[in-house]
Amino acid sequence: MQIVLVLHNLLRWAVLLFGIWTLFSAMSGIVSKRNYTAADSRSNFFFMLSCDIQLLLGLILYYTNSWFDRLKDLGNNMKDANNRFFTMEHGLLMIIALILVHVGRVSVKKASTPAAKHKRTLLFFGLAIVLILAAIPWPFREAIARPLLRWFN
Ligand code: HEM
Repeated sequence: MQIVLVLHNLLRWAVLLFGIWTLFSAMSGIVSKRNYTAADSRSNFFFMLSCDIQLLLGLILYYTNSWFDRLKDLGNNMKDANNRFFTMEHGLLMIIALILVHVGRVSVKKASTPAAKHKRTLLFFGLAIVLILAAIPWPFREAIARPLLRWFN
């Protein structure tokens, strides 16, 4: 499972990169009052795609690295910050973020004016990025710390 963990670790940077690209293009669209272009749609498509791949890799890790089994002894595992984070908090927050990304894309498509499209992009994808940033096990979060970059041992 090392390969899945390495991919899940590294792909987080693609998620953040495409997410920030999406937010910047929405902000520039609002400020300059420009049209909603294919490039805008492309940035949030790649954001959604990288999030979807993370979900797949995350589910594989969840089942194979016995996080799922820990649900059977939820009471005891909730007392441990690391177990609580990876059995509940991380996956749940990321899945909410993913729902925001998918609902956001549909909502942006349905908006009738370019300004509304840019504003909805900023709202839905902005909220998703906040959740993703909060749910990443950054090295400075002591109890749940994971490396910024991981490679094969
Ligand atoms: C945008 C979405 C996501 C991002 C950015 C993300 C990011 C990360 C990162 C950076 C790690 C630490 C990797 C390492 O130790 O090197 C991790 C671990 C983990 N993630 Fe995610 N994740 C996402 C979604 C998910 C989802 C939806 C699940 C599903 C339940 C999930 C399950 C896990 C699990 C189980 C681990 C711990 C793996 C282990 O050490 O056994 N992740 N995630």
